[in-house]
Amino acid sequence: MNEELHPPLLGYTDRLSARPGEQVQVKVSSTLEGEFEASLVRIISADPNPAGIGVVVEKIESDFAGSYPARAQEFTPGSCMHAALAEGMTLPTEFSVSAKIWPTRVASGAQAVLSIGSSAAGTAFVLGLDEAGKPRVMARMTDGSWVEALLPGVVRERQWAWLWASFSQPSGELSVGYGGSDGHHNEYIRFDGTASLTAEKMDSILVAASDPGERRMHFNGKVEAPTIYAVPLGLNQILDGSEIDAAPLFARWDFSEEISSTRVRDTSDNEIDGTLINFPTRAMTGSMWDGSEMCWRHAPQHYGAIHFHEDDIYDFEWETDFSVAVPEGLRSGIYGIRLQQGEHNDTIPLFICPPKGKRTARLCILVSTFTYTVYGNHARGDYGDDWADKTKAWHAYPWNPAEYPQYGRSTYNFHSDRSGICHASYRRPLFNLRPGYLTFGWSTCSGLKHFQADSHLTSWLENQGYDFDVVTDKELDEEGVGLLAGYSAVTTGAHPEYHTARTLDALEGYRDQGGRFAYLGGNGFYWRVAVHPENDAIIEIRRAEGGIRAWAAEPGESYNAFDGQYGGLWRQNGRPPQRLAGVGFSAQGDFFGSYYRRTPASYDKRVSWIFDGIDDEVIGNFGFSGGGAAGFELDRYDRDLGSPADAVVVASSEKHDASFVLVPEERLTHVTNKPGVPDAELIRADMTYFDTPSGGAVFSTGSITFCGSLPFNNFDNNVSTLLANVFNRFLQE
Ligand SMILES: [Fe+2]
Repeated sequence: MNEELHPPLLGYTDRLSARPGEQVQVKVSSTLEGEFEASLVRIISADPNPAGIGVVVEKIESDFAGSYPARAQEFTPGSCMHAALAEGMTLPTEFSVSAKIWPTRVASGAQAVLSIGSSAAGTAFVLGLDEAGKPRVMARMTDGSWVEALLPGVVRERQWAWLWASFSQPSGELSVGYGGSDGHHNEYIRFDGTASLTAEKMDSILVAASDPGERRMHFNGKVEAPTIYAVPLGLNQILDGSEIDAAPLFARWDFSEEISSTRVRDTSDNEIDGTLINFPTRAMTGSMWDGSEMCWRHAPQHYGAIHFHEDDIYDFEWETDFSVAVPEGLRSGIYGIRLQQGEHNDTIPLFICPPKGKRTARLCILVSTFTYTVYGNHARGDYGDDWADKTKAWHAYPWNPAEYPQYGRSTYNFHSDRSGICHASYRRPLFNLRPGYLTFGWSTCSGLKHFQADSHLTSWLENQGYDFDVVTDKELDEEGVGLLAGYSAVTTGAHPEYHTARTLDALEGYRDQGGRFAYLGGNGFYWRVAVHPENDAIIEIRRAEGGIRAWAAEPGESYNAFDGQYGGLWRQNGRPPQRLAGVGFSAQGDFFGSYYRRTPASYDKRVSWIFDGIDDEVIGNFGFSGGGAAGFELDRYDRDLGSPADAVVVASSEKHDASFVLVPEERLTHVTNKPGVPDAELIRADMTYFDTPSGGAVFSTGSITFCGSLPFNNFDNNVSTLLANVFNRFLQE
């Protein structure tokens, strides 16, 4: 792992998409001396496979092109709460601190549950766990020495316990206490001297970290109800709840309020409200949760916990190096901000939409930026040596998220405490959102997903001479069906997996208003996500019941914090993908593609035009993704899940290898599945077509590898012919 190392030249933009007239802030970090060059490019192909056209970018004139001074920019992983004391407010000379904790990574270094300090003078007081996981309180004296009280036992992981400490300058006592399932313990020491807490100006309180300046000693786990009482409390008073209830408060932070925000309310009269840094997870079950409520909106008092992680990092908040004013008249498309310094370069994709309210082509591509973001910096478990060889040989993108965990991983990974990562953001360098990045290094095919795999479609459109506009999930979420209305056809790429209710509403609305919709992927419209109300770059995913899951939401934690809605599969939210696209996720295997075979029903004249100019029965037994057009993630037609009765399955895939299995939500027992037929019958991609009553139409491929076949044989093949037939029909007036 390169924990200390950084790729020499990296950047990100404050937005993934923009319209002419809008500004894009570009943030760059370079560990090299001198200046870097910036320029604008159009990205034609992002697949570095030498068997195809390779990575193709086209330089575009731009006002911002030029040199900029190189500088390294920092970032500090780890989430916490910060609360500032108002000017003139001082800590009492005697006080107690308490919090409930649910630690998740004990004995991984010293951890602070609550600390007090100042950005000028540093930390003066830390209640937390020592390196071994023993409860400990430390206070700094004015001579710089530290005094500490330590309990002998190690706290238990993933169990609620009560942690407290008491400080008194007048009596020179410092005590630490712990109450868990193994009883209550208390320890105190006497100190002789003056503590910095009372002698120096303290202005910052941190929960789950220490040192307001650089932030260290991050706590891993849940914290509930951190409180500062304005009196010293001992074990007996703590055990006698009535005395605690009557104790005067200095501050008490209630994490069950304003759960969808980064604000934390202090419920004491002092109003020392806190701010959350690096987006820890809210709407987490607290010590009061008893299973009687599953939704935090119905019993917020059960959800008074925040889960902090030492590796939470989403928005890097780097300074802007230069901004890009998107020129009026810049054609909609897929562009990149190219940074170059010496032998190093980084190309940050930028999706340029048409001017608001305008269409500049008949075809619109919906770019799956929610899915790109959710997969951002996905460190794959199978990352290994073969990646490096292939990357070198193909001059592919050199950096892999598996090598740089400190840049923050994806929602397909775990935090260091083994809890699932449920937040994602593009306001940081995303190694896997770059032209030439390889998702599967071991594969003999191109081994691409997401942005790079979608360029199989866009390079084909360029090659075939189709004009197209580009919009992204963000605009669709914000603007709804109006964004798509008027386009003759709208198409997805290979993997439009993550959606909000608003993006699904917009797509259904477009279809039902007579739009022609092409879904050229697999495992689409699958998970429900939410966008943070304060920062639209941050997306939340709760991996609730069912689905191919990288991790599982804990019991009681299936509702999104960001919007209060039930997370997980759209299928479990009453909107199976079959209802929109006619097909939905059914089976997954290794990254291998098979082929489709035409069905007898495809010869009906309602749909036979799809195969005009194609004599083959077998479609797509070739390709840059898995070696075949039907592979990896397969969707099929299912009436029970909402596929329209009059939809025609025009081709189905076959001959999938033994790695392909049914998705979990299709299984019932170890031997039975929901439809009650042999599993093998359900392991297939259904290429499906239907007309809608309003004159619209839907074409779905049901396979994530479909687009990988388009550029094969220099774009001359039966998948290419087939898609041209569909688009040519869809784009007719
Ligand atoms: Fe996926």
